[in-house]
Amino acid sequence: MEIKVCVGSACYVKGSHEVIETLQELIKVYGLEKQVVLKAAFCLGHCTEAVSIQIGDVIYGVPKEEVATFFKEQVYRRIQSCK
Ligand code: FES
Repeated sequence: MEIKVCVGSACYVKGSHEVIETLQELIKVYGLEKQVVLKAAFCLGHCTEAVSIQIGDVIYGVPKEEVATFFKEQVYRRIQSCK
C-alpha cells in the first residue's frame, strides 16, 4: 500500500511534517515496513481544513491529532483484511 502525504504549503502549515513523522512511527510500531510505502506529494488539490493524505484514488483530510485513528482504520485494518 502506498500512502502519499501532501507537503504543499497549505498542508505543511497544518502539520504535514508531523503527520509524516507519526505515520513513520506507526508503520514501525505495527511492523508494516514491508507493506506500506510512505511518500510525500505536492498539492493534492484538496487544501481543506486538514492535511491531505492519498491512499489509492481517495484523498482524505486528516487533522494531525487524528493520524493514529486514521492509520488504524484506513491502513492497519485494510492490510489485516487483505491477509
Ligand atoms: S497543499 Fe495539500 S492539498 Fe493543497
